[in-house]
Amino acid sequence: MGFFDAIKRWRLTREGLSSGRKRRVHSENLVIQILEDSLWVKLALYAGFALGCALLILKSSTGTLFAEDSFKGALCGFIIGVTAVAMFQISFQSTCRRNSRVMLVLGGMICHLLLVRAVMGLTDAGGLSNSFRLFAVPFAFAPMLLGVLLGRAVAAFSAVFVMVIGCLLVPQAEIFTYTLLSLVCGITSIVLAFQVRKRIELLQAGIYVGLVTIIIGLVLGRLDIGAVFGPDSMGHLQLLGSGSAIALGTAVISALLISGLLPLFEGTFQLTTDISWLELSDLNHKLLRQMQLEAPGTFHHSLIVAALSEAAAEKIGANAPMCRVCSYFHDVGKLKKPGYFIENQHEIAENPHISLTPTMSALVIVAHVKDGVDLAVKYKLNPRIIDVIQEHHGDSLVYYFYRRAQDQKKAEMEKISRRLENPEDLPVVDEKNFRYPGPRPSSRESGIIALADTIESASRSLQKPTPAKIRAMVDDLVRTKINDGQLNDCPLTLRELSLVKDSFAATLRSMLHSRIDYPKDDGTIAGKRPSAETSHGDRVIPMPKRA
Ligand SMILES: [Fe+2]
Ligand SMILES: [Fe+2]
Repeated sequence: MGFFDAIKRWRLTREGLSSGRKRRVHSENLVIQILEDSLWVKLALYAGFALGCALLILKSSTGTLFAEDSFKGALCGFIIGVTAVAMFQISFQSTCRRNSRVMLVLGGMICHLLLVRAVMGLTDAGGLSNSFRLFAVPFAFAPMLLGVLLGRAVAAFSAVFVMVIGCLLVPQAEIFTYTLLSLVCGITSIVLAFQVRKRIELLQAGIYVGLVTIIIGLVLGRLDIGAVFGPDSMGHLQLLGSGSAIALGTAVISALLISGLLPLFEGTFQLTTDISWLELSDLNHKLLRQMQLEAPGTFHHSLIVAALSEAAAEKIGANAPMCRVCSYFHDVGKLKKPGYFIENQHEIAENPHISLTPTMSALVIVAHVKDGVDLAVKYKLNPRIIDVIQEHHGDSLVYYFYRRAQDQKKAEMEKISRRLENPEDLPVVDEKNFRYPGPRPSSRESGIIALADTIESASRSLQKPTPAKIRAMVDDLVRTKINDGQLNDCPLTLRELSLVKDSFAATLRSMLHSRIDYPKDDGTIAGKRPSAETSHGDRVIPMPKRA
């Protein structure tokens, strides 16, 4: 197929009908995609996890619950592993759909349990004091890692099961302390590491987990503060200090390790944390700087779309930092032909569409989506940004040029009826030539950005805005998108859409504050201000009447 395409392109280039250049497209590696969706790979991961749990308990250290009957222990570990996998499959169906996520969750838990086993082994070998061995267990590891990467629910699941399986890896006398420490530290790390936006917050979470471990140690008498005031106070103070240092050090090292490994995990498992989104929101990115200089109108439009979508996402609990970054880049494709978009034209006379047919104009407008993907792939932008670029217009119609084409056709038909023109010259107006290629928004964030994009464009042509007019415009545009089926593939619920609309109206009210005419007490409109100019994003472009 590729070979024939190349020949076709070569022929078109030779005839002067093509530039010979090919736009970059975003596509996932076929092998990775097959592995990602394969049921057999998933079953192998599940079986590997259950067998891993069994093996860990089989090789558990002396004094554990099944130290005497290791076969029974392995069977018990296997059954708990299978239960964990079944619970995971039932409770986290969307996470389970991708095998890489399954590997991350189950692999993270196995690593956590391996660390527990390693600490116990180190104690058996005499490398660590028996009384402080539990302080050296990195209780925050799996819950914090999975919490940052996949959210609180998956992290809580991991915290519960590493606690249950871990109980079989520690000596019987320590089971109660281990259970308490594992649960409390796990939940603390999940709460503190939720939606962290700076790496320093992970370190802070680590410090707090360490302090919680110390407090539990003091409450349970593992760290004997009373003995410090008795005989041999120096010796007891030393013990207290070393116990606290082990607890704090372990938690801080876990947090630092997670912070350092995050980029690796994000790259391998195609995940983006809030920390990375915040780093990506730097307006000094080469493409954004270029947009600022060459397409200032588009840059301004993108900033407002970012503000609208971020506030709306915050309101419904969607990924707000992602909305902000994706909005910055959503129209990056306009950089290829900035002058064809009204927001970058200073005067109507500059409008290059005057010399184009409506079909050609629509072609140029629609091309900004594919050009955007091309630039995003070239600059190695995050795949989720590429998804938003592709989806932000869905497969909607470039209505303005479609109407113009229809009007022109009507005028031609009139001429034909008066025998002023040949019927063969009648232009063909095919709706599919005026539609964006799609796909439609497939995530909540993508849907919010698509709506914010339309609303920002329309708000600029709102004459004499009032709070009621803004609300009516938002309702109208969202209804139109729904009726057109543009949100059919988007998981936004009706309740969320209602909250999104409230947020859009509130943000727009504050943005258009200086232009809003608020009614006075007597019902008249106060404060006449300059009305909106006739600009309309890439949806509607005003054209001067031609002679
Ligand atoms: Fe666009
Ligand atoms: Fe846009």
